[in-house]
Amino acid sequence: GRVVVLAGGLSHERDVSLRSGRRVAEALRSVGVEVDVLDVDGALLPSLKEDRPSVVFPALHGAAGEDGAVREVLELLGIPYVGATPAACRLAFDKPTAKDVVRAAGLLTPDAVALPHAMFRDLGATAVLDAIVARLGMPLFVKPARGGSALGCSVVREPGELPAAMVNCFAYGDTALVERFVEGVEVAISVVDTGNGPTPLPAVEIVPDSGVYDYTARYTAGATEFFTPARLETAAAETAARTAVTAHQVLGLRDLSRTDLIIDEQGRPWFLEVNVAPGMTETSLLPLAASAAEIDLGTLYRDLLHVAEN
Ligand code: DAL
Ligand code: MG
Repeated sequence: GRVVVLAGGLSHERDVSLRSGRRVAEALRSVGVEVDVLDVDGALLPSLKEDRPSVVFPALHGAAGEDGAVREVLELLGIPYVGATPAACRLAFDKPTAKDVVRAAGLLTPDAVALPHAMFRDLGATAVLDAIVARLGMPLFVKPARGGSALGCSVVREPGELPAAMVNCFAYGDTALVERFVEGVEVAISVVDTGNGPTPLPAVEIVPDSGVYDYTARYTAGATEFFTPARLETAAAETAARTAVTAHQVLGLRDLSRTDLIIDEQGRPWFLEVNVAPGMTETSLLPLAASAAEIDLGTLYRDLLHVAEN
């Protein structure tokens, strides 16, 4: 069988996933791997049954891609794949759950409240939002509990901005995570394991021109400045790298992940989230980190396929 890259799907991150899938396929072809890219839709199961790929590289982002559902299908068919199991994906993709797990493991993560949309209907928006502000203070960061690529995310600097941020957030999912906004340096640390244990790639420091690492800043070439490795003191860099490896381990992840952190003024890393299918587009962070470490992407992805197959 051939190698199949799964991409697309129907999540809000469909376009990003198609770009990731294309890049992964190109990188694999550059090292001589024969690969097909399959756009995930209702025909996934029959397609996989017919094609019988020897191994799958999931480049699906967002729900059904990162929540483990599609990987359940692969398990069902007995097809090996790169990355975490469905159970681990379910934990990691749900941001409130992932935060609970890493907090229990001793990592720092900003205080937060998860709010199902139904709560607003039952209690009224004003009462709920006032209680949040009383508990968490300002500024806040509002994001869908299960999402990616900064869709539905807003920084809230004063209470009056909170209602609009919630409406924006609920457009992308039915549960919002309202988190205390920690000021500091934004970094992303990818972890890869090609058979020698989880290994952190250099931290990528993210400095968006607009000041906010939103969808445009993520996927427009030149809209964000990156420093790889991040401009951190040695001790802070080491703690951050260890934090990413710990998050990968305690969430039971496999093969690859990317942990997003804020490094505060004292050099402490605050866990924001972990991605089980990190972006692999031309502007994404894992490819950037690999390049900085002089790791050829095709070789890396091929090694990950080998680990998955064996
Ligand atoms: N959710 C996007 C793809 C990322 O984490 O890179
Ligand atoms: Mg993410």
